[in-house]
Amino acid sequence: MTRPLTFLGIESSCDDTAASVVALGPDGPTILASVVRGQGSLHAPFGGVVPEIAARAHAERVDLCVEEALGTAGVSLSALDGIAVTAGPGLIGGVLSGVMCAKALAAATGLPLLGVNHLAGHALTPRLTDGVAFPYLMLLVSGGHCQFLIAHAADRFSRLGGTIDDAPGEAFDKTAKILGLPQPGGPSVEAEAAKGDPTRFAFPRPLLDRPGCDLSFSGLKTAVLRLRDGLVAEKGGLTETDRADLCAGFQAAVAEVLAVKTARALDAARDIEPGLTTLTVAGGVAANSAIRARLSGVAAVAVLPFVAPPLALCTDNGAMIAWAGLERFRLGHRDDLTFSARPRWPLDEGAAPMLGSGKRGAKA
Ligand code: KG4
Ligand code: ZN
Repeated sequence: MTRPLTFLGIESSCDDTAASVVALGPDGPTILASVVRGQGSLHAPFGGVVPEIAARAHAERVDLCVEEALGTAGVSLSALDGIAVTAGPGLIGGVLSGVMCAKALAAATGLPLLGVNHLAGHALTPRLTDGVAFPYLMLLVSGGHCQFLIAHAADRFSRLGGTIDDAPGEAFDKTAKILGLPQPGGPSVEAEAAKGDPTRFAFPRPLLDRPGCDLSFSGLKTAVLRLRDGLVAEKGGLTETDRADLCAGFQAAVAEVLAVKTARALDAARDIEPGLTTLTVAGGVAANSAIRARLSGVAAVAVLPFVAPPLALCTDNGAMIAWAGLERFRLGHRDDLTFSARPRWPLDEGAAPMLGSGKRGAKA
């Protein structure tokens, strides 16, 4: 019997320090350990992730996370076949912490090293969790990203469209802030929305009148702000019902926009890849049950299976990086100790930069 291929994965691109050990044997992949250390409490007083605080916390914890992951997996460094690390895109100080740790380990052990694109980690997760076959469509929806990707192979992706301003998770977080709900905003807005009437307030459906798969979410957050200010001016404050109805209306608008654009992206993806196997979703916003339900409905209409990885593997983690490294390793990819940490790194380097991607170029 062939020995499993075993990889260590390290992730530190935002506010989670993570390390994981993933093994690929004849029966498929197994996550032997996955350690994720969040930094929520460090950033909470500032209402958002503070890059310097994140970088310092990653530098302090990353080697401890690696040690814990190896210990839990019962795997020594010498039993590994390779080391994968997020090399971007992300907050550069954090990415550097992980990359330096991985390079030091590779230099000391002589193990193969792979610098992985964080988005590839998310995009390949459905293969780790459900063995999804290429080609498939991935909707990546998180606090920092929103894009439709065709995964043709572990090293080849096409971006069909994405947000031209905020990511949906960012819009959930800002909505929570406007309404005085706790962060992260996604779960708290979803909980309020469950008690509310989605039809009471008229929310826009941004970009639905425009062809293509691009999305926009900043207008929805502004609509929440405007409606809140109107209610406050009229009645001096918000009732529980007002808050729940605002959350329900906002969430219904996000879910509908995502559903309609996903249906379009599926059509476009099938034109390019007629043998498309699956609709998949990943990223923190994929935790939202209303959004999952709408996407699952879109897949059913298109007569395609729908795969949403378990929540712990939808949000940032080290297993997806170990897996992406392992998949690239099997295709013959290797990096040497000179690769750079990249704050910006589009997964589909051939795609035109998204509108609003900034003067410094496309972020992702
Ligand atoms: O993928 P993730 O953990 O981190 C990155 O952004 O990379 O995603 C976090 C985002 C946050 O904006 C959070 O509010 C959102 O995912 N989120 C949700 C839900 N749970 C988390 N958004 C909507 N509904 C949820 N249940
Ligand atoms: Zn992520």
